[in-house]
Amino acid sequence: MNIDLHTHLLPGVDDGSSDVEESLKILERMKSGGVERVYLTPHLYSPRTPTDIFAIKESWRKHSASLNSSGVEVFLGSEIFLRPEVLTGEIISMGETNVLLVELPTDARPHYLVEAIETLQKRGFKIVLAHVERYGFLFKKSLLPFSRSKLEDEVFRLKDMGVLFQVNWDSLKDWRTVLLLEKRMVETIGSDKHHNSDGRGVIDFSSELASQFINDYYL
Ligand SMILES: [Fe+2]
Repeated sequence: MNIDLHTHLLPGVDDGSSDVEESLKILERMKSGGVERVYLTPHLYSPRTPTDIFAIKESWRKHSASLNSSGVEVFLGSEIFLRPEVLTGEIISMGETNVLLVELPTDARPHYLVEAIETLQKRGFKIVLAHVERYGFLFKKSLLPFSRSKLEDEVFRLKDMGVLFQVNWDSLKDWRTVLLLEKRMVETIGSDKHHNSDGRGVIDFSSELASQFINDYYL
């Protein structure tokens, strides 16, 4: 199944789509690109984009039927900013499965990174790391070309821990994404589409670039 795992199309809850009409327009474009299922992943615990979990659930209750009328299957999820509060607070998994989409700060490695992921895994969650290509600190040590022998690279450590990797459609040609794809370390793709005028593309599943992603085996 062709899945866009990462979007901000739940209306009116974060820095994504502002109303249901805008989301429907984007879903229509996604459908033309061959997308069959979309996860709505509003920010949770993001320091930059604070959100209210009650508002998210309310928007989902209100809009899920009309969004599903687009002909694309739509599920609620969230993009969880990994911080210690996540371990004690309420979270939203992907379509009520045990899968969590997790993002990290982009500027510095959180000191609790491994411990927090392990804690969530021990609770039975599968972790998908959102737009892995953005986190320079995971790649820092080996530089180009990185290799499996350079185990100090933290991307390998996370992969060995069973973390699944998501990359963004618009970043498929970035050097970090290219390296991850070469190493077959990427499981899934998302558009991270926010709204109509964000300049981000929608996934074209007829392209060779996107056809390599088998998105649904873990969902
Ligand atoms: Fe996002």
